Amino acid sequence: MIDLHTHILPGMDDGARDSATSLELLRMEKAQGVDRVIFTPHFYREREDAASFLARRREAIARLEAAVERLSQEERAALPQWEVGAEVAWMPNLVDREELNELCLGKSRYFLLELPMAPWGDQLIHQLYDLMGQGRVTPVIAHLDRYWSAQRPEKISDLLRLGFPIQVSADVLLRTLSRGKALRMMQRGQVHLLASDCHSLHHRPPNLGSAMEVVARKLGQSQADRLCRWAEEVCAPADEAAAQ
Ligand SMILES: [Fe+2]
Repeated sequence: MIDLHTHILPGMDDGARDSATSLELLRMEKAQGVDRVIFTPHFYREREDAASFLARRREAIARLEAAVERLSQEERAALPQWEVGAEVAWMPNLVDREELNELCLGKSRYFLLELPMAPWGDQLIHQLYDLMGQGRVTPVIAHLDRYWSAQRPEKISDLLRLGFPIQVSADVLLRTLSRGKALRMMQRGQVHLLASDCHSLHHRPPNLGSAMEVVARKLGQSQADRLCRWAEEVCAPADEAAAQ
């Protein structure tokens, strides 16, 4: 199982503060049945440029790798694999941003996109449409559930019509109030991906396995398997995906 939306890299954002926390989060991921994690620290273009973000990301990876080096062989073997990506916050002129190529999930051509909470205008939908037409990189829409109450239903419908992969937070499946809506959208093929968006050991912990169990129990194992296949697809290296 792949968790493709996480804030585990140490000291990058509002996620793990240090390498010890990162290692504990990785152990928790493994305990949830996750064998591959994508690190997706927040990237806010209005706060820093891509070069600075990528340098910070390299440093954070080096810190984590140094901490892993200090583990025993057995402890190392008990950690999931990892790759890097980013959670890219919406920015003006998204379609023209060359840096998106370097912010994709692993070696894929998909990147995780965080949309604004402020009301979406037609401009936002048009930009996404243009990005689709370009065919260079494809956004995965992060945590759609966050916009259910913040955006007008017709705007959500406009977004769904574009056909991008849609991710929902695992947490939504673990809360009885929001679970039904997420399950109905999965059945309609409107939600493709589940991810933990984990930030910390307690407040927003790794919980993907628990959410997948809910999906399997309520909709059947085939639906849970479908979500896992989507995650494999959006994280597949671009050259492998092109060869299929
Ligand atoms: Fe996130």
